[in-house]
Amino acid sequence: MPSIAAWDFTGKQVLVVGGSSGIGNATARGFLAAGATVHITGTRASAQAYGTDAAQLGGLAYSRLDVTEPGAVAAWTPAFEALDVLVLSQGAVEYRRKEFEPDTFRRVLDVNLSSVMDCAVKFRPLLAASGGALVTISSVGGRRATKGNPAYAASKAGLIHLTRTLAVAWASDGIRVNGVAPGLVATKMTAATTDQPDRLAKRLEGIPLGRLGQPQEIANIVLFLASPLAAYVVGETIVVDGGRTLS
Ligand SMILES: NC(=O)c1ccc[n+]([C@@H]2O[C@H](COP(=O)([O-])OP(=O)(O)OC[C@H]3O[C@@H](n4cnc5c(N)ncnc54)[C@H](OP(=O)(O)O)[C@@H]3O)[C@@H](O)[C@H]2O)c1
Repeated sequence: MPSIAAWDFTGKQVLVVGGSSGIGNATARGFLAAGATVHITGTRASAQAYGTDAAQLGGLAYSRLDVTEPGAVAAWTPAFEALDVLVLSQGAVEYRRKEFEPDTFRRVLDVNLSSVMDCAVKFRPLLAASGGALVTISSVGGRRATKGNPAYAASKAGLIHLTRTLAVAWASDGIRVNGVAPGLVATKMTAATTDQPDRLAKRLEGIPLGRLGQPQEIANIVLFLASPLAAYVVGETIVVDGGRTLS
């Protein structure tokens, strides 16, 4: 039976798409600390282009990938030939009811759902060769209606079901597919809420633990799902939300 040593990813190759920031970055750093070689992507030209945040990218192999550019995922030539863990953390949201505009709706779906499928399909052969793990990052927004964000909610609901479907389709290839659905975590995506004391206080009232999640607390569950500790977990999306969606 695997013990805590199952957290050791020494010798493993990990790719975190959307690893330049927030939850993806905490996940990348978690794998790095656990001994893996970690590749990340972001939308800027280089790691240095993240300015003061570039310190967060130390030790991680950075590539630029903007999934909204047509054909970008297919055209991307990564700097590795083997892959053990693929984490798909790229995500976009639009506020002020912009997601009710058709072009914005499609763009958010492209980032949050279609590009996840593109990446999964691209790396399926490498994951099959290694008997690897794929972990998606959806959201509790995929489990309940969010009246201002139809694209975000629909894309994340779709992602939870895509996770189940790929899990069933690829289990016989030796690939385990699972996901994490975070609640409210302070990142640049949620700054519109977390930087506003009144708005934040209102949101915290709905969280039984009474606080925001930390990116590292999401990363921990990603590492668990990618590890041998989760060897018999297939197609699940684990909610990590401080109890927010329980009632
Ligand atoms: N924070 C939360 O409360 C929360 C809750 C539930 C789910 N999530 C999910 O967690 C994931 C990570 O989000 P986060 O909160 O960590 O936000 P974040 O800090 O804004 O990170 C988003 C990541 O996605 C990348 N990205 C955005 N647009 C992209 C594009 N067009 N092509 C390729 N990559 C793109 C960003 O790259 P650049 O920074 O380089 O542009 C960044 O690495 C997302 O899927 C999000 O939906 C977050």
